[in-house]
Amino acid sequence: MSPATSPALERLLRRRLLIVSGKGGTGKSSLVAALSRSAARAGVRAVAVETGPEAVLPPLLSSSPPASAFEASRTPVELDRDLYHLRIDPLETLTEYLELQLGLRRAVRAVMANAGFQRLLDVAPGWRDLITLGKLWYLSRLEDRGAARWPLLILDAPATGHGLSLLTTPDAVRGTLRSGPLRKHVDGVRELLRDTDRTRFLSVALPEELPVSEALELAERVAELGIRAEAPVCNRSAPDAPLDADRLLRALARLDGTGAPQGWLAPDALAAELSDWSRRSERERGQIERLSRGFGRPALVLPDLPQPLDGPGGTLALAGAFETALAQAEPAR
Ligand SMILES: Nc1ncnc2c1ncn2[C@@H]1O[C@H](COP(=O)(O)OP(=O)(O)OP(=O)(O)O)[C@@H](O)[C@H]1O
Ligand SMILES: [Mg+2]
Repeated sequence: MSPATSPALERLLRRRLLIVSGKGGTGKSSLVAALSRSAARAGVRAVAVETGPEAVLPPLLSSSPPASAFEASRTPVELDRDLYHLRIDPLETLTEYLELQLGLRRAVRAVMANAGFQRLLDVAPGWRDLITLGKLWYLSRLEDRGAARWPLLILDAPATGHGLSLLTTPDAVRGTLRSGPLRKHVDGVRELLRDTDRTRFLSVALPEELPVSEALELAERVAELGIRAEAPVCNRSAPDAPLDADRLLRALARLDGTGAPQGWLAPDALAAELSDWSRRSERERGQIERLSRGFGRPALVLPDLPQPLDGPGGTLALAGAFETALAQAEPAR
């Protein structure tokens, strides 16, 4: 790892699988992109993994991602040095799995194209989740001359409810399988998820009531599954920042050169700005404390960044903020 890497970041990047989840819109994808960028910068080859029907991560990781990065693929696509992306499509991954198991490419294609088989898949709950996790497990085991080919997989997991069912699936399915290769693979997936050296769960929230409540519930369920969580991330916060300078200046601009108010509304507007700010700060601080108490460790607080987070520049800024928060929360031992 690069010498600039803090001990806390180094510990995190030594894991093999990071699973990021939280309420919708809290910044899961942005954080996955930022973590992947931090890893690559530290010299750890990272794969940012997503499972949705449309790829959202490539533009956050590269200013000119290749078209192939947006398509579902079997192998991670390189976007930058040590920075890869993979969009998992469950149907394609199931085909790959069956081909590997049966070694009969054409027969598998024929089965997969069969309408009856497709209907069967539609009614079998959880197979998508299982095959997605199975793919991660498979990738984590690949080696080149004794070294992991994909040392760090970072999963942009679905939001709370679906994210949880994804992680519960191996336990749910396992009971229905006595033996055979599928049972062996499901056991492998469960072991990977529960291995606290290899796998960590990262919960993302905003400093607001509902996202924090969801993060706390999710953490409880994830712990029941035997999956270890990192400190929670509280994204888009500004509790300790000084009063927003632009807003203050706008309010002050309504005063004349001598500092005397041009109209009787100006001081009121200023007072309103100030009390608005202090109420927001207090609310945010309360939610951050709640989140930290629930996890039994201080939340990693990330700022609400002023620039748009729709490209690699924004990702780099968020990566920097995450690294700072991590280093501050866990000073070098
Ligand atoms: N720290 C931040 N500062 C400013 N904007 C942010 C920050 N984090 C995320 N955003 C913005 O918030 C929005 C939601 O972020 P993102 O798409 O990463 O959330 P998500 O949890 O992945 O959402 P979804 O549940 O829809 O997948 C985006 O417009 C993103 O650019
Ligand atoms: Mg997302």
